[in-house]
Amino acid sequence: MESSNRRVAVLTGERVVLSHVLRSDVPQCARWFADLELTAYLGMHGTSLRYEQEEQWFNRLNEGDDRTFAIVVRDSDSMIGTVTLSAINHLHGIAELGIAIGDKLAWGQGYGSEAARLMVEYGFVFLNLHTIHLWHVAFNQRGHRAYLRAGFRQAGVLRGASQFNGQRYDRILMDITRDDVPSSQLPRMIGQLDCE
Ligand SMILES: CC(C)(COP(=O)(O)OP(=O)(O)OC[C@H]1O[C@@H](n2cnc3c(N)ncnc32)[C@H](O)[C@@H]1OP(=O)(O)O)[C@@H](O)C(=O)NCCC(=O)NCCS
Repeated sequence: MESSNRRVAVLTGERVVLSHVLRSDVPQCARWFADLELTAYLGMHGTSLRYEQEEQWFNRLNEGDDRTFAIVVRDSDSMIGTVTLSAINHLHGIAELGIAIGDKLAWGQGYGSEAARLMVEYGFVFLNLHTIHLWHVAFNQRGHRAYLRAGFRQAGVLRGASQFNGQRYDRILMDITRDDVPSSQLPRMIGQLDCE
């Protein structure tokens, strides 16, 4: 039997679940987002967020139209990062995906691609989205490969649009559409809901 202390699984994958971000997660998130390597990968070069900024981020989480979930490893029930759909536009059915695994020991183990994929399927099934895009800096090859594995493809390049340590890097645009996801995969999102 599952312990009632385990985190709520909103969306269940093979190795990760997407769960609610809790107020008690704020100190951990603050430690992650104070880290210059993490923020550089996020394109926020030189930014080290303060605890108060992380609290403000948490307090605004459920105010707007964005959807953010905690990425939780099923085996350990530990939160390793967050994934967000932002700039959700219901008129056109589009949104932007952002993801940050703050626990560096969890990088490169397949968690990010699985979490991104879960969020994409959530967007297509529950938010009726058609196209989800993301941007990454060209030196973030781990991210690029994780997104390819999640089903994204490269959609464009903004040449030289990022600068780090005196060097210019491209910004890469990737996208995935509902048509890219076999319809047979989407019902697993819905579980027992009989809506065919
Ligand atoms: C980007 C991120 C979400 C990817 O999640 P992840 O769990 O680390 O990625 P996955 O393990 O699912 O996939 C990583 C892929 O990159 C490869 N990889 C791992 N380390 C790498 C490295 N140093 N350089 C290049 N590729 C690497 C893996 O082999 C895998 O590719 P494959 O499936 O073709 O074998 C996560 O690393 C992260 O949050 N990084 C810091 C913040 C960040 O970059 N956010 C995204 C901003 S756009």
